[in-house]
Amino acid sequence: MTDHNDSSVLFGNGDELPSNSSDNPHINELIGQLSRRQVLTGTAAMGGLAFLGMALPQTALASGGTQTTQHLPKPRARLPFGAVPVGRPDEIVVPPGYRASPFIPWGTPITGRYPAFADDASNSARDQAEQTGMHHDGMHFFPIDGHRGGGRRSDHGLLVLNHEYIDAPLLHPNGPSVTDGKRTSAEEVRKEINAHGVSVVEVRRDVRGEWEVVPSPRNRRITAATPMRISGPARGHALLKTRYSPKGTATRGTQNNCANGFTPWGTYLTCEENWAGYFATRDSNLPRELARYGLGSTSRFGWDTLPGDEFERFDATRKGPSAIADYRNEPNHFGWIVEIDPFDPESVPVKRTALGRFAHEGLIFAPVKPGRPLVCYSGDDAQNEYLYKYVSRDRYWPGFSDGRLLDKGTLYVARFKADGSGEWLALDIDNRKFRQACKVAGVRFADQGEVLINTRLAADVVGATKMDRPEWGAVHPDSGDVYFTLTNNTARTVADAANPRVANAYGHIIRWREQSRDHAGTRFRWDIFLLAGPQSDSLDPKGRPLGADSILASPDGLWFDPDGRLWVQTDMSGSQLSSGPFGNNQMLVADPRSGEVKRFLVGPLGAEVTGITATPDFRTLFVNIQHPGEGSTASNLLSTWPDGPGRRPRSATVIITREDGRRIL
Ligand code: FEO
Ligand code: CA
Ligand code: CA
Repeated sequence: MTDHNDSSVLFGNGDELPSNSSDNPHINELIGQLSRRQVLTGTAAMGGLAFLGMALPQTALASGGTQTTQHLPKPRARLPFGAVPVGRPDEIVVPPGYRASPFIPWGTPITGRYPAFADDASNSARDQAEQTGMHHDGMHFFPIDGHRGGGRRSDHGLLVLNHEYIDAPLLHPNGPSVTDGKRTSAEEVRKEINAHGVSVVEVRRDVRGEWEVVPSPRNRRITAATPMRISGPARGHALLKTRYSPKGTATRGTQNNCANGFTPWGTYLTCEENWAGYFATRDSNLPRELARYGLGSTSRFGWDTLPGDEFERFDATRKGPSAIADYRNEPNHFGWIVEIDPFDPESVPVKRTALGRFAHEGLIFAPVKPGRPLVCYSGDDAQNEYLYKYVSRDRYWPGFSDGRLLDKGTLYVARFKADGSGEWLALDIDNRKFRQACKVAGVRFADQGEVLINTRLAADVVGATKMDRPEWGAVHPDSGDVYFTLTNNTARTVADAANPRVANAYGHIIRWREQSRDHAGTRFRWDIFLLAGPQSDSLDPKGRPLGADSILASPDGLWFDPDGRLWVQTDMSGSQLSSGPFGNNQMLVADPRSGEVKRFLVGPLGAEVTGITATPDFRTLFVNIQHPGEGSTASNLLSTWPDGPGRRPRSATVIITREDGRRIL
């Protein structure tokens, strides 16, 4: 008998279960050794106000040598808009004087036959491969004007965006077909595979100022089945040898693409986050490269339960002695960062293994400097996981450097100390301290490829600091200070004296300043920028409670605009979203210079606000709205955004402009 499964096993929320059982200290324990107030004002952690922007002019913040007088504070207000109140509308609300228009919602035809979107979700798997995917997330606008990576054109570009996952009940006319816990329709699962991945969409602003999709050979869908190449130290490793690629050099697809990055040479980086849930294994003694990533006996969507190589590859159960006769190593092909050249539709995406394997949220670059190494940061978004930094071995040279800079370098993990200092710890088999730590811990890695495939274990070994789910990062364009959202961590059940939350339900934003000018060194200073929560349990950048215009919870997306304002997007869920004081998910702007925080946008019902990019002239802001009406079925629509009454909710990009056509801020 066929029924339409709504169990939380097959179609659960997809968040990773905690899998870090190491003894490493949690950041909350460290914060707990200081008073919360001290941490926020920096009087203890930062040794006075030297680090913070709170009481100092912006010039005093410059650490990278890039500060010039043109960045001095302007006399006008930095957040000159009317704050949007919290609320639960089923629409986008922006301040007076701004417009917000939905764009390229799930199912928008972009390639080949340009199959029209069917309101009843009856598009085929093949149609879906030529339409934008579901669940828009990280995104970047690449100007098209002949200067790859350095373009300034603001009316024509490539919008590249992730499709993190799917709402299976809305992807099919009557939800997914399941019998006895097994999927019954290959066509349905193929459609699900094709609704994941990345879209490359050429877009142009017409004479009326409206953005439109350009029919273009550059438009492209990358899915959870697209052929890809593996590069970096783990390429060809025994643990990457599969039936599909007995040499361990190729793979198929990318999935759970959450936040993103973009390189100075004009390529897009998509980051594989909660991929572990897409696999099942019935083995009882899992190898460390699976156990430390939380693989379970059932998968999120049950793709593994259908017969045939394209589906069985999601079943990692051992079936015999040979690793290339079954699919035990398939999960080792996920958890990477994938580089995509959006300007070449024939290019093969590349999984860059030097950046480590974990639940990558995004990848954020420090300002690039000619003749210096490339530096980038990435968070592992699971409870009690870590923050990482990558430093390329070779130097960056504009016009010459390419993705090979992401193949040779050192991956570090962060240790935050209670005195406000911090240290980057190398995960490098050629590093003496790392080898010594492995010896002490009794952990052996045969080579650097094995270190990277087991990044989490390597980070455990060196004593990294457990964090409250690191999400997006952003680097201040002038000061070079690095900000990261720590979205929440309800797994912490024991309060300590100086950290009054029994569990961190609301999240916070941490920041640090590298002690080396090029970001490549191993020491930094850190503090807490903002403690999210209701007015009664929060602190703004000046150490005051957040107000009605600024309360938020579960900060996630993070982005600096060209003028150094920090845009913060939220991903609340459950009762925090449905009945908390925060209303729907939202986007706020924080000014590190003044400490002011103000709500700019409130999203529709059940949606997460995630993904942000702008045109170089900052007159168009692109923001993604993911999973409006989450939990809906065809017969019970919890949101009808953006198409209106009776229509299925669809994730979409939102184009934000000012009515007077000027810069957003
Ligand atoms: Fe996909 Fe960590 O959010
Ligand atoms: Ca996120
Ligand atoms: Ca999130």
